[in-house]
Amino acid sequence: MDKSLPNRAIEWRDQQLILLDQRLLPNTVEFLHINSVADTYDAIKNMVVRGAPAIGVTAAYGVVISALKHCQQDQHSAIQQIEIDIAKLSKARPTAVNLVWALQRMQNCMRNQNNDCLDALENEAIAIHEEDIAANKAMGELGASYIDEQSTVMTHCNAGALATGGYGTALGVIRSAFAHGKLQKVFANETRPWFQGSRLTAWELEQEQIPVNLICDSAAASALRAHHVDWIIVGADRVAANGDVANKIGTYSLAVLAKHMGKKFMVVAPTSTIDLNSSHGDDIEIEQRGRQEVTHVGDKVMATEGANVWNPVFDVTPAELVDVLITERGAVENPSTSKIAHLFNK
Ligand code: MRU
Repeated sequence: MDKSLPNRAIEWRDQQLILLDQRLLPNTVEFLHINSVADTYDAIKNMVVRGAPAIGVTAAYGVVISALKHCQQDQHSAIQQIEIDIAKLSKARPTAVNLVWALQRMQNCMRNQNNDCLDALENEAIAIHEEDIAANKAMGELGASYIDEQSTVMTHCNAGALATGGYGTALGVIRSAFAHGKLQKVFANETRPWFQGSRLTAWELEQEQIPVNLICDSAAASALRAHHVDWIIVGADRVAANGDVANKIGTYSLAVLAKHMGKKFMVVAPTSTIDLNSSHGDDIEIEQRGRQEVTHVGDKVMATEGANVWNPVFDVTPAELVDVLITERGAVENPSTSKIAHLFNK
């Protein structure tokens, strides 16, 4: 355990990647020092770090770690080796497009260098990290402008500082709305099977003294009916060109509920999460994770051994259920292919 605690979940310090181990929260705050591409890959795959933008930032630093190892070689061999590492990192998780987006940016940066690319890659990774924080703050303000005084909101999964370079997407909007005195309280869904809501979102909100009611995922409809919830606010792992949204499993059910019950549904995602190569949600690969996430809670068995398990960890919410998509480039109300294309042509 590192004694001098970094103040971010992802930190690049003295040419080392330091990651808050999110698997251990909220009980234990422990940081891992990552010095190899293999460890960067494992950290993403095994969810030491998770959340689409955070995965992208981590992978970018992974490329710098690769460059540190290979930059003593001649330029041609170094580039070859770094490209192999980029290809490996891109396979760590399939759904969050920020991973491939960040790696492509690092690859372009490397290919544009005439000499030693280490400094350029390090600066690019830091820029990806800082730009993500700036985007989150901009989205926080824009999203908060949609929220009325005295509002109550619901969020799903963790789209906070832990899931991004810092500040958060959905939680960024919640943070900003709270700072403007507009929020009464937040319902945080526990988010089975990995408990991002109870372990991470409730932890982040509690630290900021934002009033949080934790509920089981299955209590969402009752909470929406029993309490005056104005907005459901979520992040995204990938937004297709037509506005379909891949996000944590359970998001789709919430969007259907919102439509049925007349609640507003907001998606908050930087443009690095929008994948113009996925024309609609069916083009998005949905990650399937292992059975143990469903059959166990920690080490405790919660299911019969003979049951088969289906564990898709994301789902796709059709664009028609989204009232507004908040990006750092602007808000897209009732998203569609043409409105999203316009966002990129501004
Ligand atoms: O499996 P995870 O924890 O990586 O899933 C994270 C989510 O689904 C988040 O809602 C999404 O990445 C948005 S994070 C700003």
